[in-house]
Amino acid sequence: MSNGIPKDPAAPFDPTLLPPGLRSVDLEALAREFGTPLFLYDEAELRRRCRAYVDAFGAGSVAYAGKAFLCTAMVRLVEQEGLHLDVATGGELHVALHAGFPPARIVFHGNNKSDDEIVAARDTGVGRIVADSSDELDRLERLRFHGDVLIRATPGVEAHTHEYIETGTEVSKFGFSVATGAALDAVARVVASSELRFGGIHSHIGSQVFRLDSYAKAAGVIGAFADECERATGVPVPLVNAGGGLGARYLADDPDPEITEYAGALRGSLGDRPLMVEPGRSIAAAAAITLYRVGTVKEIAGVATYVAVDGGMSDNPRPVLYGAGYEAYLPARIDEDRPRVVSIAGKHCEQGDVIIADAHLPATVVPGDLLVTPVTGAYGYSMASNYNKVPRPGVVFVDEGQARVVVRRETLDDLLRLDES
Ligand code: LLP
Repeated sequence: MSNGIPKDPAAPFDPTLLPPGLRSVDLEALAREFGTPLFLYDEAELRRRCRAYVDAFGAGSVAYAGKAFLCTAMVRLVEQEGLHLDVATGGELHVALHAGFPPARIVFHGNNKSDDEIVAARDTGVGRIVADSSDELDRLERLRFHGDVLIRATPGVEAHTHEYIETGTEVSKFGFSVATGAALDAVARVVASSELRFGGIHSHIGSQVFRLDSYAKAAGVIGAFADECERATGVPVPLVNAGGGLGARYLADDPDPEITEYAGALRGSLGDRPLMVEPGRSIAAAAAITLYRVGTVKEIAGVATYVAVDGGMSDNPRPVLYGAGYEAYLPARIDEDRPRVVSIAGKHCEQGDVIIADAHLPATVVPGDLLVTPVTGAYGYSMASNYNKVPRPGVVFVDEGQARVVVRRETLDDLLRLDES
């Protein structure tokens, strides 16, 4: 964990960035068995993080945000740990239901839900839907959605994260503004509707957020808004859903926020109101690593050294999209100093396909080395693509040293699966 003193970047890799269950497994053996690139999750760490949320917020008050990483095995794990599940599309809903997740524990999000998605949610008994616009309220009434309807309220608070993933300010495409009165009108409309059941208020200020003061501020706005709704409508607000967003420690120097502190910040502003949170990244990110094989090491005198791996922006688009930083190490030489500054590039046809622009590695990095980037469990596989017709990696869960494939690696024939002629 970071103690405020910057780490020497040339020092050996900090193994506390690895989940405990992956610190002593033979990564080279797993890479040979399952191939690279490979997403490797520590199943016990996923469960530990689910439990930490349940301990901090209470059973029934935590919905895992499936957009961070979703597959049948993950849905089942989340179900076994007693969490609810946030889905943001009909596709995520389909995966959740296919895996047998109880529909009553599903929270359905999205700023542009289609009729088909609403009907699917209605007919399968989805418990909660978070309404994002007046058009959607029209649709929910017309289609008689009979679960709980929450209103997504925009608190007008900055999260201090990358602008692409900041969602709670007045310019956001999401939600109804508290400041303009749109959110109150929406709540009043649901309360007065003979077709709809009011389920509470939702707010989400952004993702990869470290600033607990931003959470406290947003929760303060939402708490005051809930009071106002109760005064105006005369009915209680059954639930405040404070969204997700707690940041993950990607770099050794990043903060490592405690879930209990996050709970304290929200509770401090919302008091005893029934509360739900929707963490994605802070459950999935640190539970996984990506294994790559180094293919080339190209030194361009006076410019850079490119260490190219067998994946790239197709399995981790976050550096390209958000300028996100990662660390890297060579498992075979984990204890060595990392004095060599290199750019770790992918295999895609773009100069921008760089996973880490200024990675530190041992001086001896050579083709054939196994290279690992830790903290890739959230928004990596879930945002993976087939760009350049690169098959998507496999996903493996490791539990007590035992590895099992939970999503198989795509084959070249999978790349032709959708072609009609
Ligand atoms: N609830 C709602 C309504 C959300 O929109 C999100 C994330 C979450 C919960 C979960 O947030 P988390 O705990 O994972 O931060 N692709 C971006 C992140 C996009 C987040 C979108 N919404 C990235 O890779 O950084």
